[in-house]
Amino acid sequence: MFEWLRKKRFTVPSRRASVPVITLDGPGGAGKGTIARRVADALGFHLLDSGALYRLVALAAEDACVSLTNGEKLAELALRLDARFGKDSRVWLSGQDVTDRLRTEQTGAGASTVAQIGTVRRALLSRQRAFRKSPGLVADGRDMGSHVFTDAALKIYLTASAEERAKRRHKQLKDKGLDVSLAALSQDIEHRDRRDSERSLAPLRPAMDARLLDTTGRTIEEVTQQVLDWFAEL
Ligand code: C5P
Repeated sequence: MFEWLRKKRFTVPSRRASVPVITLDGPGGAGKGTIARRVADALGFHLLDSGALYRLVALAAEDACVSLTNGEKLAELALRLDARFGKDSRVWLSGQDVTDRLRTEQTGAGASTVAQIGTVRRALLSRQRAFRKSPGLVADGRDMGSHVFTDAALKIYLTASAEERAKRRHKQLKDKGLDVSLAALSQDIEHRDRRDSERSLAPLRPAMDARLLDTTGRTIEEVTQQVLDWFAEL
């Protein structure tokens, strides 16, 4: 008798539900990476740069001479990806330091191409979810709130004007010693935005329950504080 009630009252919440996730999605150059790192540091949370995984698949394909249209082989590479993320933002692929190669525009374009393939996205799904560990996770990407962590505690969609995003990317690359023209970069960003938004699988768009945050003209500190304030209010 009352078995259903006993079960209901003593249901133990799953570990997954108890580990909070903050998702930061949005187009390239909106400031997701920088803000995600600041927020994760402030809260002592883990960090997932999901774009790096798609970039690693593109690099792994380049190294293995696999065509960016070969879905089957790309999915295999994605499943077997031997990636390591260091504390100082360095990244290794199959034991090789690929930190600099990872951030080039060419790798970004390759990532955006492989990201259109369903089998690749599926292959990366459990790898991304495995980053969810106590005390919490800040995940940045394109579909973190809409697909990967649909039960996230806080979902944010970061935007900024196309002009400002191109300028930021330009500065980022220049600081890394990479010389790219601002005009070429603006075109690349526009092209990648269009491809990411128009693809049929997990297209770039805010989750229904995401809060929009326009970072145009706002400092990194202001945006970080806004995210922390929203999280504190939950
Ligand atoms: O953020 P980042 O520029 O490193 O991402 C590279 C590309 O990977 C994006 O243009 C997008 O096509 C893809 N991506 C994705 N889903 C994510 C993260 C990145 O499709 N969650």
